[in-house]
Amino acid sequence: MANGVKYFIGNWKMFGIPSSNKILYRIERFFVNDKKHNKKYKIIIAPPFTLLYDFSKRFKNKKIQISSQNCYEKDNYGAFTGNVSPFMIKKLGIRYVIIGHSENRIIENNKIIQEKIKLALKNKLKIIFCIGENKKQKKQKKTFIVLKKQILSGLSKNYNLKNIIFAYEPVWSIGTGLTPSVKLLKKNVVFLKKFIKQKFRLNYNPKLIYGGSVDKKNAKDFETIKELDGFLIGGASKSSKNFIDIIKNFYK
Ligand code: PGA
Repeated sequence: MANGVKYFIGNWKMFGIPSSNKILYRIERFFVNDKKHNKKYKIIIAPPFTLLYDFSKRFKNKKIQISSQNCYEKDNYGAFTGNVSPFMIKKLGIRYVIIGHSENRIIENNKIIQEKIKLALKNKLKIIFCIGENKKQKKQKKTFIVLKKQILSGLSKNYNLKNIIFAYEPVWSIGTGLTPSVKLLKKNVVFLKKFIKQKFRLNYNPKLIYGGSVDKKNAKDFETIKELDGFLIGGASKSSKNFIDIIKNFYK
């Protein structure tokens, strides 16, 4: 969506203890003071399960939204040790959930991801749906085939895609410091948006963000890709300074 709202989404992965809330307070303060730009973007942070309840209460009436990093593929309650259902997440006051992250796809296949998406939507959670090719698939020029399959196997034709933010995260770029060139990313982003729009017969542009080694420098380079709706930020979201610098640089 060319000039729509941008998303800066932080994925903390296995990071954070209760006192890490100070990182969010700093980011929140920056956002509130950034009067010149703050109508143009949204900030969402995904801490681990252990912090979801505390953070969702703390930031309930604030500008930062809280997301879960995953959910289980069964709903309500059940004998599934160590797992958390979409229903339980929703009841915390959480509005977003990341599904299909490549670090989880190692043990989750497309069928499981399809189930998670179905149940998350049923619970009225918005989804950050991660897709992306790995190094080998890229080398074999299978990127588009892989992306199409991930999208089509995850989603049903009747879903309201306004509740889904697609996160294009090439696996080879996550945590590696490697990123696609501006030209390649633009090509993939344009392809994905067009594909989704056609397949699901949308009369609007789906939201699509990029993730993988995002930092203040490459975020600025990618700013030239007008089709891109924002970023999913891992490593750099664990520091308020790095996260804020990405936003500052983006709008510089
Ligand atoms: P990274 O992680 O920014 O550390 O590469 C991104 C992600 O995994 O979502």
